[in-house]
Amino acid sequence: MTDTFEAYILDHDGDNGLAGSVQTLTADALPDEDTTVRVLYSSVNYKDALAVRDAAPIIRGEVPMAPGIDLVGRVERSESDRFRTGDLVIGTGWGLGENVWGGYTQLARVDSSKLVPLPDGLSAKHAMAIGTAGFTAMLSVMALEEHDARPDRGEVLVTGASGGAGSMATAILASMDFDVVASTGSEDAHAYLTDLGASRIIDRGELSEGPERPMESGRWAGAIDAVGGKTLATIIAQLKRHASVASFGNAGGHELHTTVFPFILRGVNLLGIDSNTCPNARRIVAWERLAGILASETIESMIHSVVPLEGIDDVARQMLQSGVRGRVIVRVGS
Ligand SMILES: NC(=O)c1ccc[n+]([C@@H]2O[C@H](COP(=O)([O-])OP(=O)(O)OC[C@H]3O[C@@H](n4cnc5c(N)ncnc54)[C@H](OP(=O)(O)O)[C@@H]3O)[C@@H](O)[C@H]2O)c1
Repeated sequence: MTDTFEAYILDHDGDNGLAGSVQTLTADALPDEDTTVRVLYSSVNYKDALAVRDAAPIIRGEVPMAPGIDLVGRVERSESDRFRTGDLVIGTGWGLGENVWGGYTQLARVDSSKLVPLPDGLSAKHAMAIGTAGFTAMLSVMALEEHDARPDRGEVLVTGASGGAGSMATAILASMDFDVVASTGSEDAHAYLTDLGASRIIDRGELSEGPERPMESGRWAGAIDAVGGKTLATIIAQLKRHASVASFGNAGGHELHTTVFPFILRGVNLLGIDSNTCPNARRIVAWERLAGILASETIESMIHSVVPLEGIDDVARQMLQSGVRGRVIVRVGS
């Protein structure tokens, strides 16, 4: 008898675009890649919600395919000498769940160059609680550190702080003893952000109108920005001398209108963060750092829910309609 497994599959739904359903498959449905992984957990990111509800053109690979931009699992076999049977591995980005099959499948075949080892001391479940959101936040913190951000230099701003990546950035910076100012538009998130370690909270309206002058008083010794647009323009005008902002998101707008003055008169830095194509050597460092910095209780406190493959549709709908605070983990296999 052929072994079967379950997967959440997106396929054409007549003229109605893409629709997802949990299906029972055999291995011949899988793409031909060098490493077979028993997936333990995945997660639902905002991008996944857009993909499974077909609310934006996220899926660029051939359908039918399993979405899910994050996965963690156990290697069943690999033709690559990088991994052995039984190794625990993480896959995020590199087009997983967009151009090629992602994590919403109990059995996956993945190009080994898209995988990194699960660091010691981090459980598979917690790796997906961190997921692309936490990985992106860690890359942002690393970029700031490489540009001399240090806890003794003053307040570091995080925008979109109650969002997936923003709350991870808040928790990581606070765990590293930075003085974190969380900017949020969600009044009901204040206690959550304080619990994650924010020392001060500001209303996102303080930043969202754009700067009044090309250079304002230097407020921030560093910043991590999920919002973009006028918020990012304001941050650039308010960075202290030689401080940096790591820009990873466009939750509030993709355009950026600024002047060169903060760059040429204060030496500030605008650091771009792309978690999708981050080189593997840097990924491994980021995951090792995450395993060392974030306490288990902190990670637990950021978990919104753990859902089965059958629960992906509902949580994706909720995420797009009203938002979901904290990380949604998908229990895929065992
Ligand atoms: N570059 C990368 O590699 C990378 C990786 C992951 C995500 N991203 C991008 O980063 C952004 C955040 O991702 P996420 O997963 O953290 O999303 P998320 O969980 O939806 O959080 C976004 C947060 O931004 C704030 N926000 C939403 N709409 C806003 C608006 N119109 N103006 C100002 N603030 C607004 C909200 O926070 P408050 O209520 O607290 O204000 C919201 O919780 C998205 O644009 C996403 O596409 C990029």
